[in-house]
Amino acid sequence: MTQSENHQTAKSPDHSMFTIGVIGAGQMGHGIAHVMLRAGHIVLLLDTSKDLVEAGAKRIIKGLARDVEKERLTKEACEQALTRLKTATMPTKPAKPAIPKELFFPRRADLAAADVIIEAVTEKFDVKAGVFRLLERYCPPETIFASNTSSISITRLAAATGRPAKFVGLHFFNPVPVMKLVEVVPGLQTAPETVETAIVLAASAGKTPVRVNDFPGFVSNRVLMPMINEAVFCLMEGVADAAGIDNVMKLGMNHPMGPLELADLIGLDVCRDIMMVLYESFHDSKYRPCPLLEKMVAAGWLGCKSGRGFYEYPKK
Ligand code: 3HC
Repeated sequence: MTQSENHQTAKSPDHSMFTIGVIGAGQMGHGIAHVMLRAGHIVLLLDTSKDLVEAGAKRIIKGLARDVEKERLTKEACEQALTRLKTATMPTKPAKPAIPKELFFPRRADLAAADVIIEAVTEKFDVKAGVFRLLERYCPPETIFASNTSSISITRLAAATGRPAKFVGLHFFNPVPVMKLVEVVPGLQTAPETVETAIVLAASAGKTPVRVNDFPGFVSNRVLMPMINEAVFCLMEGVADAAGIDNVMKLGMNHPMGPLELADLIGLDVCRDIMMVLYESFHDSKYRPCPLLEKMVAAGWLGCKSGRGFYEYPKK
């Protein structure tokens, strides 16, 4: 495990080096941690189990090695980046008084030193709100909380914390090391300086921040997900097979991936959940998830991550 015990974690006043807590070491979380390390920041990566954190750290190490191979990073910069990576497991509930807190959560001091926490956990309001409530026990009031939510209201998440002015949406795209965009989403109560810090942070990681107001699905998923959902309707109605639908969009529209391939990359459960947020938020039947999408999720065909979605993915 790559960890550094002796690295400075004091808050950086000029914001040239941020200390970032990334909560969730999965597909998005490990990617966010990777680009933040590559940008020179200190990263504390947390998840609920040692296995999950280690799997995320391994993917980061592999990604940074790939950056060296492709000459996006020098070997020295890669080695330094790895010394700035710290990992820890995080409790799912606050520590009981009977358990010594240091044993329960050994990186509390590191978390308290973070300038910004970026949450990238399951796309469910209650799970995310629970994480932020827990973090409030460890982080001082000045720490900025950011959510990588793909569609949940930032205003609502912010209101579940005691720091709505210090709360912002930072929506990264998959695969994070490759995609240039970050949607920066202020909630109704977000302070202008919080938005400014979020923009500076995203830009420091080589991303292009685009400020988007807090509406369901923001811009990205409000446009993308109905397209994916419509492609699933085309498949269900037999307009063409999966490869045919994807080829139409790749060859006719110059999309880098077809909508069904992309759905497999994103995760069919994530696509369904985002459609549900749009459907329930706008109360408009045009956003209803396609029954075939629902059925595939129910079967556990979630795309690349489960080995089967619209296509099959042999285990590596
Ligand atoms: N994870 C990490 N890196 C990946 C990757 C993945 N899943 N897939 C490809 N890459 C990397 C490759 O390693 C390669 O990097 P390199 O420079 O080190 O060689 C680079 O991307 C280019 O890959 P390839 O040459 O193999 O393939 P392509 O040129 O076909 O690009 C792609 C692959 C970048 C995934 C491209 O097909 C693409 O842009 N697809 C669309 C992706 C997209 O739309 N993402 C947004 C999803 S929506 C979202 O995330 C929002 C959320 O809220 C749902």
